[in-house]
Amino acid sequence: MTDAPIGIFDSGVGGLTVARAVSQLLPRESIVYIGDTAHSPYGPKPIADVRRYGLEVLDTLVDEGVKMLVIACNTASAAMLRDARERYDVPVVEVIGPAVRTALSTTRNRRIGVIGTEGTIGSGVYQDMLGVDATLEVFAQACPRFVEFVEAGVTDSPEVLRVAEEYLAPLRHAGVDTLVLGCTHYPFLEGAISYVMGEGVSLVSSDTETAKDVYRQLVSRGLLAGPDATALHTYEATGDSAEDFLRLADRLMGRGVSAVRLVQTGAIDLPKGTP
Ligand code: DGL
Repeated sequence: MTDAPIGIFDSGVGGLTVARAVSQLLPRESIVYIGDTAHSPYGPKPIADVRRYGLEVLDTLVDEGVKMLVIACNTASAAMLRDARERYDVPVVEVIGPAVRTALSTTRNRRIGVIGTEGTIGSGVYQDMLGVDATLEVFAQACPRFVEFVEAGVTDSPEVLRVAEEYLAPLRHAGVDTLVLGCTHYPFLEGAISYVMGEGVSLVSSDTETAKDVYRQLVSRGLLAGPDATALHTYEATGDSAEDFLRLADRLMGRGVSAVRLVQTGAIDLPKGTP
């Protein structure tokens, strides 16, 4: 048992959905959340840059003494899935594996759609992991403007619906029965996405599934907080405005986040030849 916190990170506020799901399943666990607002959005950036930024944040969390790392960002998970597990002694949980597992157990017609940022879809990680099952057909679509909408706090405007129609048309025509929301921000647009895809299509988002993975890892490794532990939730951002992070967190998540500390991540040395 250990009362050390769980470290959770995203490029910005989107990963708060994962933090919320973790604290619902594990209310005695402390959490340190870092939003890498200095470098967000990750989606349009070269995957090598995302990897560097992400590892810098994870190093910071490890220096802060976390007992587990949660990469609550699809683009970052796609960029450094393996590197992170090799680099740290603490267990690392990410969001792609849980979403893939859920999609596989959800689909009935074996046609699965995946939407995400340009980085995530361009990396091909979802397509590769789902494609291992040769009986499946996978249809992937990048939806870059979705993150812009959520970051602007716009989740239910006619413009969102119009853009959703445009992005999702190929997936609707492909007849997918399961759609993976492969981006932390997309659960905030579930209304529009579900409306456009229709009732018969199951939406899979990684927040609750990732929280179950966190639960499993803590239990199996004997890392749960002790019986008298008091959960402390700390929020940190790397950008220069705590207010922006707070305002958006408040709009998207309700009153859960009351204070944000600004932190700096250190530069890291990656081995030569690292892409
Ligand atoms: N958190 C990112 C993801 O899940 C979306 C936001 C961004 O582009 O940074 O892919």
